[in-house]
Amino acid sequence: MIGSNENGVPNDIAFKADLTLERLRPRLEEVWCTSQIDEAKRHEFEVRLDEQWQGLFKLLFQLYRSRYDFFFHIEQIITAAARAWAERPDQLCESDRHRINEPDWFQSEKIVGGALYVDLFSENLCKLREHVGYFQGLGLTYLHLMPLFAVRPGNNDGGYAISNYRSVDPQLGTIDDLRLLCNDLRQAGISLVLDFVFNHTSDDHEWAQHAQAGNREYQEFYYLFADRSAPEQYERTLREIFPTVRRGNFTWHDGMRQWVWTTFNSFQWDLNYSNPAVFRAMLEEMLFLANMGVDILRLDAVAFVWKRMGTSCENLPEAHVLIQAFNRLARIAAPGLLFKSEAIVAPDEVVKYIGEEECQISYNPTLMALLWESLATRRVALLTQTLRHRFKLPKNTAWVNYLRCHDDIGWTFDDQDAAAIGINAFDHRQFLNDFYTGQFQGSFARGVPFQENLESGDMRISGTMASLAGLEQAIEEEDEVKKELAIRRMTLLHGITLSIGGIPLLYLGEEWGMLNDYDFVKDPAKAGDSRWIHRPKMRWDYLEELDDHIQSGNGSIRKRIFRSIQKLIALRKTLPALAGQSMELIAIANEHILGYLRIREGHRLIVLANFSEESQAVEGNRLRTAGLGRFFQDVIQEKEYATSEPLILEPYQILWLNRV
Ligand code: GLC
Ligand code: GLC
Repeated sequence: MIGSNENGVPNDIAFKADLTLERLRPRLEEVWCTSQIDEAKRHEFEVRLDEQWQGLFKLLFQLYRSRYDFFFHIEQIITAAARAWAERPDQLCESDRHRINEPDWFQSEKIVGGALYVDLFSENLCKLREHVGYFQGLGLTYLHLMPLFAVRPGNNDGGYAISNYRSVDPQLGTIDDLRLLCNDLRQAGISLVLDFVFNHTSDDHEWAQHAQAGNREYQEFYYLFADRSAPEQYERTLREIFPTVRRGNFTWHDGMRQWVWTTFNSFQWDLNYSNPAVFRAMLEEMLFLANMGVDILRLDAVAFVWKRMGTSCENLPEAHVLIQAFNRLARIAAPGLLFKSEAIVAPDEVVKYIGEEECQISYNPTLMALLWESLATRRVALLTQTLRHRFKLPKNTAWVNYLRCHDDIGWTFDDQDAAAIGINAFDHRQFLNDFYTGQFQGSFARGVPFQENLESGDMRISGTMASLAGLEQAIEEEDEVKKELAIRRMTLLHGITLSIGGIPLLYLGEEWGMLNDYDFVKDPAKAGDSRWIHRPKMRWDYLEELDDHIQSGNGSIRKRIFRSIQKLIALRKTLPALAGQSMELIAIANEHILGYLRIREGHRLIVLANFSEESQAVEGNRLRTAGLGRFFQDVIQEKEYATSEPLILEPYQILWLNRV
């Protein structure tokens, strides 16, 4: 009798996989015949399929073995991958070949990312092409365009309610405009990042429309329930993600007379991945995007893609299996493609998505939250406690380090990390919420609440970087000292994300110190979602002020912010020690100062960052032993320091120290 392991995978799975592949070969043959690709290109696919097959089969088997039509779906999945490879443009295949040989290309110190909304930044895709020079001037090599696909009318959650993954929102342009932009970016050495919004579709997506028309096959694409009994059972263990939109996680649909699973907004219908037809359908959308020329796919809301009664339906093991299966298919059909995980969850869970076999890169929400935490407390204890055991990543993977993005800030640090240094996590989150909404006395921040849940006391924060860092308050109070401190806070944080290890990612607008946009409430489609406060429209007249060298008023502030970020980016690219992920904390006997060492192939750089508005001292001896030298130069200010004396950091100063 043939046994099985604890996942129910039979011991002779390898034999079953081989047999399945033999049965699939004639189907592949048909794809090659109709697509008429040459022998060499076909061979490349088959070599990779052979490499990945055993693993892929095992993953799909784990997810779908109990389906009566398992083989049918496997056949569809493999032929979809083959067709995608056959159709993949030569230029992309060429880039695939390079990236296979250089699996750490994204670890370079030359990589710097930016993210933007096409309409808010430049109106449309055509106009955006005119700004490629701007991105180059700023030093970007990675550009994330927020979702630009066809969306439902009215509120579409900033593009995350997609009605068609293969067409562009007509207000932004056409799929051909996107292709042209892709080419321009490629030529400028800028990688393109787009979202793969695979947890849900909009309620007006073709599949959802078929479901609404009563088509059973498509109803099975979603989670539909005729009465409240199952939803109620699920809800016993579910979190509420958008409690101010609607209580619970389900939405009643009058037409179908069914409850629909809607984790986010009521018009975003969660896809049912326990149905292999959904996996296959989304794979085709994914490969379509890959063949458009996307370099990195941002896997949206990864934590939520698998559900099981009695669990939180977040971060389930099957979610990982699912992403790994997508990953293997990408290795076969679009091997240059990378996945970026968007798991804004507890730190223990965030890392589980990161790996060469799953998502090669991931947002670092814990670092983001703790940098803001350190600014509020002026202390780095929780940050260092966390970094000490949570920053290291597997080979050929990287953090994406950011300060703000289009979403809110949630305080996703680990409760145990906090407890270990005597901090009560619940109280501390309350404090941070008070601080960043400006209610805590002496706070410099001007954030606003997002999704406040009065029952659980949970709340997140919206606001632009500049408004959270104190610039809005300082400008309003016309206080020069406060303005100076706010600018320094921003530079401090950028100095860290640009040097700590991984890919730094700017949310465009940060580089001009854009303030909160309170006018979002005038648009009924946006009024209910405070995240629009930090999604202001870019003001290109600000840039003219930069060029005109206007020295007065807010113009000079923006110029200072812009120039300092631009300078840090340019500096980063000259420092090979900043490539890769390895980072060692330096023990510094000063609770306000974060210190770390970056070492790469004989290059060393020490970073010291002062999180307080007072000057702070670091013993010269600490620097000498960490940096193995007696004289150092801060490459930012080009100033030398000797370790025979204490080193003094100015308020909020960051030093990037090279041995001289
Ligand atoms: C992601 C997006 C967020 C959106 C949600 C639902 O978390 O970043 O903006 O609301 O997914 O798609
Ligand atoms: C939650 C989700 C995250 C999403 C965010 C939007 O934090 O975990 O995926 O981006 O909500 O506010």
